[in-house]
Amino acid sequence: MRPLIVALTLALAVPAFALPASAAPPGQDAANAAAKNHHRVKDLRDLARKHGIRIGSAVDVAALRAEADYRHVLNREFTHLTAENAMKWESVEPERGVYTWDDADAVVANARRNGQQVRGHTLIWHNQLPGWLTSGVEDGSIGPAELRKILREHVQTQVRRYKGKIRAWDVVNEAVDDDGNMRQTIWLQHLGPGYIADAFRWARAADPRAKLYLNDYNVEWNQGKIDRYLSIIQELQAQRVPIDGMGFQGHLGIQYDYPGDWANVMRRFAALGLEIAVTEMDVRMVLPVTPEKLATQAEYYSRALTDCLSVKACREFTVWGYTDRHSWVPGWFDGEGAACILDENLRPKPAYQALLATARR
Ligand code: G3I
Repeated sequence: MRPLIVALTLALAVPAFALPASAAPPGQDAANAAAKNHHRVKDLRDLARKHGIRIGSAVDVAALRAEADYRHVLNREFTHLTAENAMKWESVEPERGVYTWDDADAVVANARRNGQQVRGHTLIWHNQLPGWLTSGVEDGSIGPAELRKILREHVQTQVRRYKGKIRAWDVVNEAVDDDGNMRQTIWLQHLGPGYIADAFRWARAADPRAKLYLNDYNVEWNQGKIDRYLSIIQELQAQRVPIDGMGFQGHLGIQYDYPGDWANVMRRFAALGLEIAVTEMDVRMVLPVTPEKLATQAEYYSRALTDCLSVKACREFTVWGYTDRHSWVPGWFDGEGAACILDENLRPKPAYQALLATARR
């Protein structure tokens, strides 16, 4: 057993959360005594307060509306929200010029009612674009000049709508591919690489106080991506483009090694003057779930939070959904799942307890 797992096993036994009797871990009495010597971190909001960091979750709007228990736990635990899908282009403008803000508004309204801040996700991406846009570009009825105008209007309209209500925007999402090249998207192909600088400038003009981020996955460890992003950011800064932050999505799996250099990678971005956020943390596993896999998952979550806390510029730690009841993972990775910190019944998993234990160090 690795030392961290031993430490976690001990920590997991600390009843920092009112667990249902059936979920109470063994060894609770001894742990109770040990816990008396520690400041008791009650929940994730408490953890956020203690460390002066935002702890966020992606929000499934259908669940937010329909499930009182989901809503209750979301609002009890988290200080920051990201709409999982509701602010994406296909959601907000499914037909050209026809805006459907209800779902996005619901996330922002929930946040305002519950003292939470919001990450806007995402203004520019190659996925979940509306059909009218992709088919128009494909059949040539939307040419480059018009495409640029459409993009500008999209950025301005959405950022203005939530001016003052969104703390940080993922302005451009996943702009680099896994080989470290600029991703071949309709934006790069039809507008050239300058679309990134344009988008940040438009966003800044629309809401001067929102923090503007690039956001991507595998930047935790993929050297090609890391180098490419560092050079994109330096180029943007040389052109005085307003960029404030780098988002590390943090989609991990226990079948892969933990990205052990992540904190140093964060520091390289922070050294450019950027704010850092972990924006979409989850840790999937090959099913079935076993206690050993849950312990490893807990270790990964804890290490990720430790990495973030060790970098002063890391201001937000957001999970990509907090419950296995609603997670993108099983739909995307055959035979994998259980990636979240609470189970399908909203019971805390070892990963949840490990996050609270991380706070006690
Ligand atoms: O909108 C339809 C809905 O009308 C239909 O009833 C339903 C039936 O399956 O499908 C709905 O669309 C799905 C959509 O999520 C909303 O639930 C899509 O099929 C599904 O592909 C889509 O998946 C999302 C995925 O992005 C798409 O790329 C996931 O929920 C979402 O978690 C995921 O999030 C991304 C981040 O935005 C960026 N980083 C990676 C991350 C994980 O892929």
